[in-house]
Amino acid sequence: MHFATRAIHASQPSDPSTGALIAPIYQTSTYEQESPGVNLGFDYSRTNNPTRARLEGVLADLEGVGHCAVFASGLAAEHAVLQAYLRPRDEVVVPLDVYGGTYRLLHRVFAAFDLTITPVDTTRLDAVAEAITDRTRLVWLESPTNPRLLVSDIAAIAALAHARGALVVVDNTFATPVFQQRFTLGADIVVHSVTKYLAGHSDLIQGAVLARDAAVFEPIKFLQNAIGAVPAPLDCWLTLRGLKTLELRVLRHAENAARIADVLAAHPRVRRVYYPGLASHPGHDVARRQMSGFGGMLACELDGSVDDVTAFVSNRRYFTLGESLGGVRSLICHPARMTHASIPAQQRAVVGLSDSLIRLSPGIEHGADLVEDLLAGLAQIENPDRSFICV
Ligand SMILES: Cc1ncc(COP(=O)(O)O)c(C=O)c1O
Repeated sequence: MHFATRAIHASQPSDPSTGALIAPIYQTSTYEQESPGVNLGFDYSRTNNPTRARLEGVLADLEGVGHCAVFASGLAAEHAVLQAYLRPRDEVVVPLDVYGGTYRLLHRVFAAFDLTITPVDTTRLDAVAEAITDRTRLVWLESPTNPRLLVSDIAAIAALAHARGALVVVDNTFATPVFQQRFTLGADIVVHSVTKYLAGHSDLIQGAVLARDAAVFEPIKFLQNAIGAVPAPLDCWLTLRGLKTLELRVLRHAENAARIADVLAAHPRVRRVYYPGLASHPGHDVARRQMSGFGGMLACELDGSVDDVTAFVSNRRYFTLGESLGGVRSLICHPARMTHASIPAQQRAVVGLSDSLIRLSPGIEHGADLVEDLLAGLAQIENPDRSFICV
């Protein structure tokens, strides 16, 4: 079954009691029991809920594995993985520009664990090989990374990690299972900020953890109930709805991103464009090999002052200034002061997160309108007298 067909049919039969095509939202906290401990598979909605269970089944199917647990946010999902697998004084290898929230979890929430957190340029296999030791518990990967869209060779890194007994966790938020099937590349655990492309409409916060092996998954499932950071049934239902159009949406997101990348790459006011689909991108060849599309996100460095950057991101017509990404409506952000502000400035400089870096999440609007909006902003940098508002 092809991905688009699976997104509509897999794990989601019509409701057996009514024939309803779309399963109801089981908005209930608890369940009637026939006698103590005898129930229909559900006893309390923190532990399990039919709407959530359906979503977990669909997500597992789309990632091609048997196990999924959804959480109240992407960070709650990440927290469960770290809580399940890290022990005091363990070592963790992370990408240089790991998502700011992951950085904060490791450095602050797990501060008492006295972890050795090794930031590595995961685009360089020699650097990864050097960073992994016998004490490395987790190799945490994002590919493409947030926000610089750096691409890592997941299969090669998984081989290096497994040889030293480390688990490989891949944050698949940017690529989505449409463009990248991490498990076939050797990941042990995949995490998602479902908030982004999977839900797709900027109307909820949610996360997911997926695993192929039951034994790897078991502690995550335990923590989902034991810590209780579970999403509401309505939010699970909204994600189920969003997933039906996932492929359609991300293909359009990617088409718009590629079009914008080409335009920006040729513009004199843009110093650098980060998009794996550009032949000039250092990870282009690896991306071609391990992805079936280059994704919907891109970033660029403007050739302008901090004021120019501020004005550019604040005054777009279709790109709304805001945190997050992956929704149908275009978003723009300034990572240094928004998504990655929790990384100290000095560290941001080390990992190449410059203050002129802008992250773009093109929506599914018409690409020509999005390009026009960005060109109007760039023209303003060249001609400071003109209005910033694109008309
Ligand atoms: C790559 C990546 N991973 C994880 C997260 C965290 O997800 P959430 O905001 O749903 O907690 C984000 C949020 O922006 C992200 O971009």
